[in-house]
Amino acid sequence: MISKKKNQKSLFPELDSELSIDSICENGAEYIEVYEKHKVKYEVLNVSDVTFKAGTKEGIHSWFRLTPSYSPELVRFFLDYLGCNKDEIIFDPFNGKGTTIVECQKLGYKGVAIELNPLLYNVTNWSLKWDYDIEYLKKIQNSIQKKFTVNSKKAKDLTIDEFVQKFKLDIPKIHQPFRWWKEYVIKDLLILKKLVYELVEEDNLGVFNIILSVISLDCANIHRNHPTISFDDNHTRDINVWEEFNLNFEKIVRDLTEVQSIKKIKKAKIINGDSTKLTKYLNGIKIDKLITSPPYPNRFSYIHTTRPQLFFMELLDNAKEATELDLKAIGGTWGRATSVLMKDFLEPNKEIKEILDYIPELKEKTLLMCNYATKYFNMMHDHIKELKKNVNPGFKGVYVVGNSRLSGVEICTEIILGKIFEREGFKFDKVAVFRKRGGKKMLYETGVCVSL
Ligand SMILES: C[S@@+](CC[C@H](N)C(=O)[O-])C[C@H]1O[C@@H](n2cnc3c(N)ncnc32)[C@H](O)[C@@H]1O
Repeated sequence: MISKKKNQKSLFPELDSELSIDSICENGAEYIEVYEKHKVKYEVLNVSDVTFKAGTKEGIHSWFRLTPSYSPELVRFFLDYLGCNKDEIIFDPFNGKGTTIVECQKLGYKGVAIELNPLLYNVTNWSLKWDYDIEYLKKIQNSIQKKFTVNSKKAKDLTIDEFVQKFKLDIPKIHQPFRWWKEYVIKDLLILKKLVYELVEEDNLGVFNIILSVISLDCANIHRNHPTISFDDNHTRDINVWEEFNLNFEKIVRDLTEVQSIKKIKKAKIINGDSTKLTKYLNGIKIDKLITSPPYPNRFSYIHTTRPQLFFMELLDNAKEATELDLKAIGGTWGRATSVLMKDFLEPNKEIKEILDYIPELKEKTLLMCNYATKYFNMMHDHIKELKKNVNPGFKGVYVVGNSRLSGVEICTEIILGKIFEREGFKFDKVAVFRKRGGKKMLYETGVCVSL
C-alpha cells in the first residue's frame, strides 16, 4: 500500500528543514522524509492516490461523485497509521459522501459519522444498505423501464405547462430550472422519479434514490470544473436519461453482488447533524479513533455545489432554506451567508485569539476574507470543544486539511488547527503530509494528527 522511495526529491524543499531522512515512522508506516516547521514534526508520506478519482474505481465508493472527497486508499492508510482495531468506534464528523464509513463497513470496522448536508447524508445512508434481493431489484427495474418508455413518449410533444398538469408533477423549485435542464430532460427525469416512488416500496428505494441523485446532475447543462460546477449553456449533447439511469443501475447491482459476499459486515451509522454540536447528535456514543476531512478555509460551499440535486430530490424548497444550511456549515459561503460576513469585524473566540496569526494582515487587506477565516476557525474550535466531551481515553484522530491563500495571505490551516487542539488539552502529535496542490501557490494537503 505504501512504498518508500529512496532518493525521492523533497516534496517541500521550501520548508525549514531540520531533519531529512528516509526512515520508518514509529507506527511502522514508511515515509519519505521528515521536516520541522513551527516546531511541529511533518512526516511526508507516500500514499498512492488521495483524491476522489481513486474512489471512482472502487465498489460502492463509485456510486456518487463528490469532487472534494478523499480516496478509500487514504482511509485504509489512516486506519493502519492510527492503529485502529475492529472493536473501536471510528468516527467521521464531516462525512461528505461517506468514504470513511463506507470503507469501515467494507473492512469490518465500526464506523459512525455526522453530515450536515441532507443530500450527502441521504446518499451515505443509501450507500450503506447492501442486503437487497438483487433479482427483485432487476424485476423492478424492468417494470420502471416499460412504464417509462410509454410515459416519455406521451410527454414528448407537450409544452411544459401541459406536462405539469397532465402528469401532476412539479418543476424543481431551483432558480432558473430550464437553465439547469433542457425541457425534454427534466420531463424524463421527473417521470422517472414519479415511477420510482409509485413502483418501489420503501425498503428498496435506496438504490433508485442514489441513481436519481446522480443523474439529476449528470443530465444537467453543466461543466465540471475542479471542484465546482458551472453552466454549460450552449452544449449540443444528446442526453439520454434512461440510458444514464440504467448504466448506474447496472454498476450498483454489480457492486452489491460483490459486497454481499463479505462475511462480517458491521453496519456503519450515519447521523444527519451538526458537528459543532456533537454531544447532541452522538447521543452517548464514545469515540476511539477519528478519520475525517473537514471543509477547508477556501470558500467552497457544499450546499451551493449540490443545489441541483438538493432541489431535484426535494430536500430544499427555497433559497432561504439553502442559506440557513450554509450558515450552519463550516467553510463555504455564498449569497446571504457571505453578506452577513461583510459588516463588522468578527471577533475570534477568546481562547483562540492568539493562535489566529493571519488576522492583522488579512484584516487590513479584506475584512470579508478575514471574517470568513475567523468564522471557519471559531466553528472548528466549537467542534473541538465538543469532541473532547465525546472521546474515550487513548483517543487518536487525523484531520485532513488544506492550507489556503486568501487575498495573498497564507492560512496555515494545519498549524492553526493543531494549536487549537492543544489549547483544548489535546496533544498535537504531528502533521502527515501527502499531497501538494496548486503549483506555485505552495498549497498542500496534510493530516493533522492529534491524541488525548
Ligand atoms: C471535505 S468534505 C468531506 C469529504 C469526505 N471525506 C468524503 O470523502 O466524502 C466536508 C464535509 O463537511 C460537511 N460539513 C460542513 N459543516 C458541517 C457541520 N457543521 N457539521 C457536519 N458536517 C459539516 C460538508 O457538508 C461536507 O460534506
